Amino acid sequence: MSEHIQPGTEKAGFETRAIHAGYEPDPSTGAVIPPIYATSTYKQDGVGGMRGGYEYSRSANPTRTALEGCIAALEEGERGLAFASGMAAEDTLLRALCRPGDHVVIPDDAYGGTYRLIARVAQPWGLRYTPVQVADVAAVRAAIEPGSTKVVWVETPTNPLLNVADIAALATLAHDAGALLVVDNTFASPYLQQPLSLGADVVVHSTTKYCGGHSDVVGGALVVKDLEIAEQLTFHQNSIGGVAGPFDAWLVLRGLKTLGVRMDRHCDNAERVVEFLQRHEAVSQVIYPGLEEHPGHQVASRQMKRYGGIVSFRVTGGEPHALDVCAKAEVFTLGESLGGVESLIEHPGRMTHASVAGTDLEVPGDLIRLSVGIETAEDLVADLAQALG
Ligand SMILES: Cc1ncc(COP(=O)(O)O)c(C=O)c1O
Repeated sequence: MSEHIQPGTEKAGFETRAIHAGYEPDPSTGAVIPPIYATSTYKQDGVGGMRGGYEYSRSANPTRTALEGCIAALEEGERGLAFASGMAAEDTLLRALCRPGDHVVIPDDAYGGTYRLIARVAQPWGLRYTPVQVADVAAVRAAIEPGSTKVVWVETPTNPLLNVADIAALATLAHDAGALLVVDNTFASPYLQQPLSLGADVVVHSTTKYCGGHSDVVGGALVVKDLEIAEQLTFHQNSIGGVAGPFDAWLVLRGLKTLGVRMDRHCDNAERVVEFLQRHEAVSQVIYPGLEEHPGHQVASRQMKRYGGIVSFRVTGGEPHALDVCAKAEVFTLGESLGGVESLIEHPGRMTHASVAGTDLEVPGDLIRLSVGIETAEDLVADLAQALG
């Protein structure tokens, strides 16, 4: 006899959880999809008598609760928290886990907004930080200050060079030094990689990207296993107030329902694009963790289900050629961000990473980053062929 599967529970498969976790059809109306609870406050059954656990929507809102339950189930965590943006999630996390004087280790190629938050907001508040190449476990070990380092923060794969950090090894390293491992899982999404299962303590998402998946919402999330950390985060989420509004939460929840099928198509198309670029004479290097020659390939193969939808490559004609390709692409829209159904192309040196020009973090001028969407693969390849000339 087949085992009875509760759709939203751990035993259910990823796609089943994506569709069912966090919400049961509304008992009063039967609504299969959670309503957008556009309410700031809730009628109380007498003074102090909360109805259904809700009193004010900064503290909790049923649409947000549904999203938080779903993303926690997908990351195999115990608690999810949804925010107004990835940056609001990160700010809340740093304030909850760190105090002035504490130290954090961060990637030397962290997302620019994360770097800005730590260097220009958290540092003046008293946080100290050391940027390090997180693909290099020995370098992370050397950067940790036992006793002072409270957080080792990694992104994997990183942006735009797609460096891969070994989550399990870094979790051990961080824990041995009394620190927590935070993993920004935005690029992989919970479909491709589940950092909590590899020993990480907190997962961060810009749900603006693959989780939302349609470039129509800005949002963020944190997911944890440990309930004590969850309590600290919940307290700070409510105190700071950077929460996801009900419509934004609803959009991200709708996006999560198709995350698995979208990610598989993103990966299929990325592989087709990589194959094409590798054979093109105007391309000098293709950067994709799925390639055997990628330095992080072994680790990525261990900890990721597939290698994702982001592909970076360098062209033979230097920066002018890279800018020309970006200008000529038509199916690939020139734009920042990533993770939506539509393909995007960008020039990191002049766009997403312009702020690090002239520093150690500068990216090569001949580099192009693609967020490969889920359009017809042949159209994407044909577009790159005409843009490369
Ligand atoms: C890896 C990563 N983390 C965090 C963020 C910040 O998220 P948001 O733009 O939703 O605030 C981004 C945004 O691009 C990102 O790429």
